[in-house]
Order: sequence, then C-alpha cells, then structure tokens
Amino acid sequence: MKEKKVSKKAVSLADLQNKKASGDKITMLTAYDYSMARVIDEAGLDIVLVGDSLGMVALGYGSTVPVTMEEMIHHCRAVRRGVNRALLIGDMPYLSYQVSKKEAVRNAGLFLKKAGCHGVKLEGGSVMAPTIEKIVKAGISVMGHIGLTPQTATALGGYRVQGRDLESARKLLEDARAVVDAGAFSLVLECIPSALAKIITGMVPIPTIGIGAGPHCDGQVLVTNDLLGLFEKFTPSFVKRYANLAPQIKEALDDFIDEVKRGVFPGPEHSFGGGEELLEELEAENK
Ligand code: KIV
Repeated sequence: MKEKKVSKKAVSLADLQNKKASGDKITMLTAYDYSMARVIDEAGLDIVLVGDSLGMVALGYGSTVPVTMEEMIHHCRAVRRGVNRALLIGDMPYLSYQVSKKEAVRNAGLFLKKAGCHGVKLEGGSVMAPTIEKIVKAGISVMGHIGLTPQTATALGGYRVQGRDLESARKLLEDARAVVDAGAFSLVLECIPSALAKIITGMVPIPTIGIGAGPHCDGQVLVTNDLLGLFEKFTPSFVKRYANLAPQIKEALDDFIDEVKRGVFPGPEHSFGGGEELLEELEAENK
C-alpha cells in the first residue's frame, strides 16, 4: 500500500474556508467509536462527524428520531479520544434543539463541554435560523443541514430528493441564505439535484458539504458504515461502496469458528508455555 503523508496540524474553520476559496475539496466522514475515529483521523479526513445516523448504523434503531443526547454525548466522547487533528462535529439529536432556543444552546454547549467537540450540526433552514443564531452567539460553531433532513423525513414525504420543482428549489435557496445569515460556518446539502447544489454552493460564502447532492459542493460526506459496506440493511443510491467489509468479516468469523472447533486455534504461537513443573506438583496435590 502507498504511504500517504498526512499533516498533523489541527484542521480549523479557516482551513475549510480557504479550501472553498481555492477549490480544494473538503472531506468528512462519520464515526461512532474510538477505533474507527482513529483510522479516519489518521487517514487525513478534514471533518469527523458523530452523526445521529449512529441510531441506525450503530444502535439498530429504525430511524434517527429515537437518538438521545445521552447517547450522542457518550459516543462523541469515545470518538474524541481517537481524533487528534480533524475538526470534530457532534450532531444534535431530534428534540434537543426544537423545543426552545434556551434548551438548544444548553444542549449544543454540552457537546463542547462534555465531549470536547469543536462544533455542532443541526437540521433545518429558515425555521431553525433564530436557533442557530442563538447558539452561534453563545460561541458555538454551527454546521447547518438542509434538503433531506432525516429527523423530519416523514413531514417531507419520506426519504426522497428535495428541491425538484421550482417552488421547493426557491425554498431551499431561502433556507441556505437564512442559515448563512444566522452565522453557520458550513452547510450540509442532502439529497438535492446537482444543479441546485451548484447554485447554492456558488451563492453562499461558507463551504457546502454534499451527500447525494452531486459533485459541485465544496466537500463530500458519507456515512462510514455505508462507504465500507458494513451496514447491509439498505444502501442509498447516492452511496459509493469503497469496500465490502461485511462479507469479509463474516468469512473471518467462519474461519474462527471452524478453527476453534477443529482445535487449530489457539496454536502454540497464541498460547503461553512454561509452568510444566508447577503442573506436575498441582496434579500431585490434587490426586
Ligand atoms: O447523521 C449523519 O450521519 C448525517 C450525515 C449523513 C450528514 O447527518
């Protein structure tokens, strides 16, 4: 495998802004535990997101809606320990920011205070702009998220591409402006036509990160478990699988079962020698 040099310098918000200006693409992936966070950080990703996709790919829920603040903080703390250079963003779960601005600021702050995140992400456009503004005023960096917003997918008519007609495309432009004006440092665009993502990316001064939004965004994000073929329940059509690990893992597990049953594992190289004289004595004592 080719050795890649990854800078040890911590990624800053200014670095992301510079990447937008220079056209150097931003990369972001999700992580939910320490081991995966280390691998992702060492690979050189710019941003690690502890997404509320945690609920589906790591906790086995049917959607992201049941995810709680406690679960998010617990997993963010684990990921924090594995991230040394990437920007770490915690995803605010459903109902942690919708009830009141006060609660939203408190919960956003907990991602920094308890889990060491650099910022938070929350879903919603114009409706959420006043909340984003409050959180930003409390000194917390916010990443916006518009288009398909999974926490409220039912209200949007299901998990489907957004902004396909003129009216909803105009609404998404308005949402993007509102999130920018509220002070967000970047914006996730999920499941919208490439042409619309191109217009938004050209219009807003902050970096856009696309997922199912085509190639014109300033950066791209995927759920790591999808990219690695670790989540087999379903794969959205916009996901590219860069590996197919689930079958590989199953093959390794089959080998383990087989070798244990045949007495091949553990072999001498995985066992501790010595102690034969003690054994003789113990056997004699227990006769
Ligand atoms: O929860 C998540 O993982 C996300 C990304 C897919 C953007 O919101």
